[in-house]
Amino acid sequence: MSQSIVRQRLILVLHGPNLNLLGRREPDIYGATTLDEIDRRLTGLASERGFELVISQSNYEGALVDQIQRYGWVASGIIINPGALTHYSIALRDALSAVPSPAIEVHLSNIAAREAFRHHSVISAVARGTIAGLGPAGYELALRFLMDGIDVEGEPTNE
Ligand code: DQA
Repeated sequence: MSQSIVRQRLILVLHGPNLNLLGRREPDIYGATTLDEIDRRLTGLASERGFELVISQSNYEGALVDQIQRYGWVASGIIINPGALTHYSIALRDALSAVPSPAIEVHLSNIAAREAFRHHSVISAVARGTIAGLGPAGYELALRFLMDGIDVEGEPTNE
């Protein structure tokens, strides 16, 4: 197996501010599942299909930008729940827009059905797609979509 094929079977998973509190944070909105449980499930699904995940959670915008700059050229995809940064981080949007790896935006809650300030995402326009309101299943669907894209098409696409 060549080095480039190994690199393509890598997916970056990014969790933004406050998502480290999942399970304890407003469980009526975000559910009882912890971030660790989500990450372990994703890691299992990925490894069944020979994919490696790089998973990071940060409460800092710049740390998320750094990970996108680091892996966005080599990963076959990015799964990102930007948390509140969804609604205002042009830096995060620009980072996603700068790199070739396609990004799927995921939200546990249905942001369209919540407060007005959550209705707009500055990220969606540069994402390959958005999944919101399906809880932890949203991450799994995003992962399957990205893995299917590689297995069917053989290389990442950003269209
Ligand atoms: C969230 C929705 C955001 O509005 C909020 O700020 C979050 C989590 C979600 O997963 O539903 O932190 O991204």
